[in-house]
Amino acid sequence: MSIAKLFCRVTLLLLCSLAVILTLLLGGNRDKAAAQSTSDVAAQNATPQNQSKRPAKRTSDMPGAVSGATYVGSDTCKNCHDEIYSKHFEGTPHFALLKGGEHGCEDCHGPGSAHVEGGGDKAKIVRFSQLSPEQASRRCLQCHESSLENMNFMRSVHLKNGVGCLGCHSPHHSTQPDHLLKTQQTQLCYGCHATQKAEFDRPYRHRVDVGLISCSDCHNPHGSFVGRQLRTAAGQFPVCTNCHTETMGPFVFEHVPVKQEGCTSCHTPHGSTNPRLLRVSQVNLLCLQCHSPTASGNVPQIPSFHTQNAKYQACTMCHTQIHGSNFDEFFFR
Ligand code: HEC
Ligand code: HEC
Ligand code: HEC
Ligand code: HEC
Ligand code: HEC
Ligand code: HEC
Ligand code: HEC
Ligand code: HEC
Ligand code: HEC
Ligand code: HEC
Repeated sequence: MSIAKLFCRVTLLLLCSLAVILTLLLGGNRDKAAAQSTSDVAAQNATPQNQSKRPAKRTSDMPGAVSGATYVGSDTCKNCHDEIYSKHFEGTPHFALLKGGEHGCEDCHGPGSAHVEGGGDKAKIVRFSQLSPEQASRRCLQCHESSLENMNFMRSVHLKNGVGCLGCHSPHHSTQPDHLLKTQQTQLCYGCHATQKAEFDRPYRHRVDVGLISCSDCHNPHGSFVGRQLRTAAGQFPVCTNCHTETMGPFVFEHVPVKQEGCTSCHTPHGSTNPRLLRVSQVNLLCLQCHSPTASGNVPQIPSFHTQNAKYQACTMCHTQIHGSNFDEFFFR
């Protein structure tokens, strides 16, 4: 073997191992990044731009799969299901599934050869109506679980109560411009949450009815890391501070319950018969729940000059900066 040839081989070998090491390193990093984002609690508020859609995993071993079937391509489906194709698929976001190495219709319905050979045998194609909410959701999650919005779905209160993706979304028959929802969001949620509908009918409320704010601004219907499927603001602050930033501080003089008990110790989140969404009809009664001799804990009591005169009943007339102040320990300004 000539020296030149030997040199070539050694270089090739070196290059190869370098490539292997690089792939390992990059792959490892990617996994690490994924793990990190999973553990990042605040990450659920990240923007959709951060979400990556992965190509379909193997669907052949999922429930409902037809054994032995192979992919035939969406054009074949179109031959017999032209209406679904052109009216309920082509214009939807899932039309993107015809790009790259994806399988279009068969990404969701599984490989279709047996169905086609059977002249459209219903038993030989995945029909979502025959799957449990969990089974159906798993199919969707092949691609959507990697999104920060969806990664908690399998342990969400919704799925645990039998509400899968198709309880809210319809890939073919959505009437909405966004997110393939079955109906307009507020109406969709009200459909199952009558108690909350009544709360939002109260005189003081967050105006979800006119779309000033949506249920999904505060809740992640796909599940979250905290109770009541609530979203959180950056730094684990309550979701409320995403919009009401001025209540968040930090203040030189904090009003302890704002951070400790949270906003809902004084406010109802949905709607109230009291102004400012307060839990109690009169401000003084709210304050005296804690600032009175009968209340437990080491909360300072109202000074004795606070008689029960009308003058002293409107507590927040004087203690105006009720969420905290940078100037005054008694929250006057
Ligand atoms: C040779 C024509 C033909 C082709 C090609 C074909 N289908 Fe069908 N498909 C049918 C017929 C006919 C039915 C209705 C069977 C019935 O109602 O009894 C059907 C039913 C279905 C159903 C069940 C509908 C329901 O009522 O729940 C699905 C899902 C489906 N097809 C998907 C596909 C997909 C995906 C492809 C492409 C892989 C495909 N079909 C290709 C003829 C075809
Ligand atoms: C994103 C997943 C997904 C893709 C992609 C998809 N389907 Fe469906 N398909 C469903 C679901 C879910 C249902 C159940 C009905 C519903 O919720 O809209 C369904 C229902 C159907 C039905 C039953 C009739 C009906 O109108 O509900 C047929 C037929 C069908 N799909 C054919 C197709 C064909 C053909 C394609 C490709 C052109 C396709 N599907 C692509 C998820 C999908
Ligand atoms: C309880 C109702 C509900 C259920 C169940 C549900 N969704 Fe959603 N989904 C919504 C609503 C509402 C939005 C719009 C959210 C918004 O406006 O921010 C949405 C948005 C989305 C989006 C777009 C946001 C994004 O991630 O970029 C995707 C994708 C999605 N859902 C997929 C799914 C999948 C997959 C499932 C099942 C694993 C599912 N959804 C289950 C209500 C639901
Ligand atoms: C093979 C991968 C794949 C499967 C399986 C899949 N999707 Fe999708 N989905 C996509 C892609 C790709 C898009 C388009 C993404 C985009 O536009 O950013 C999309 C878009 C969506 C959107 C709209 C997102 C938005 O921002 O408006 C919703 C909602 C959705 N899918 C729900 C579902 C549901 C429900 C199922 C199960 C019936 C499902 N998907 C199955 C890949 C998939
Ligand atoms: C301004 C933020 C916000 C909006 C908007 C909002 N919620 Fe809530 N929701 C909350 C908070 C905070 C809680 C927890 C209340 C508690 O723990 O006392 C909650 C609790 C709930 C609960 C659980 C109630 C219980 O007692 O277990 C449901 C169900 C609910 N919300 C549904 C909805 C629906 C449906 C909508 C839209 C029509 C909606 N929410 C809009 C903040 C909000
Ligand atoms: C198909 C019916 C259905 C739809 C649609 C639906 N939900 Fe629910 N939701 C349920 C069920 C069932 C539960 C569990 C029992 C309960 O708490 O009421 C639940 C629970 C919840 C909870 C309480 C979680 C907890 O920890 O107690 C919240 C918050 C919630 N849903 C918000 C929403 C929002 C926001 C929407 C609209 C985007 C929505 N839901 C749409 C059926 C539904
Ligand atoms: C997505 C933004 C958003 C979030 C999140 C939000 N709010 Fe609001 N809030 C608003 C808007 C907008 C208004 C004004 C409503 C109006 O004018 O009808 C409002 C009004 C209020 C009011 C009444 C103010 C007044 O002057 O009467 C209170 C109290 C309040 N919110 C508390 C909360 C609490 C507590 C939370 C958390 C559970 C919360 N908000 C979460 C947007 C938000
Ligand atoms: C100790 C009780 C208490 C807590 C805890 C509390 N608030 Fe308030 N909040 C009030 C009172 C009382 C008012 C009415 C002030 C007035 O009458 O002017 C108010 C008013 C508001 C208003 C109306 C605008 C304003 O500043 O006057 C908003 C918005 C608000 N609160 C949001 C929040 C948010 C968000 C949180 C949690 C970070 C929170 N509140 C925690 C008692 C509280
Ligand atoms: C959920 C219980 C709770 C409610 C309701 C509450 N407070 Fe407080 N408040 C506290 C606690 C705890 C402290 C802090 C005590 C400390 O600093 O050690 C405090 C501190 C104060 C202080 C400062 C006292 C000092 O010596 O630093 C004032 C003033 C005050 N609250 C007024 C009010 C007013 C006015 C209301 C009604 C709008 C109210 N509080 C509602 C628990 C509450
Ligand atoms: C007319 C104005 C005014 C009104 C109304 C008012 N306060 Fe005060 N508050 C004061 C003053 C002045 C102080 C004493 C500040 C000082 O000691 O320098 C004070 C002090 C306090 C303290 C701190 C006591 C301590 O020893 O740390 C609390 C708690 C308190 N008020 C609660 C309330 C509550 C609850 C209400 C409603 C029932 C209320 N205040 C109504 C003016 C007012």
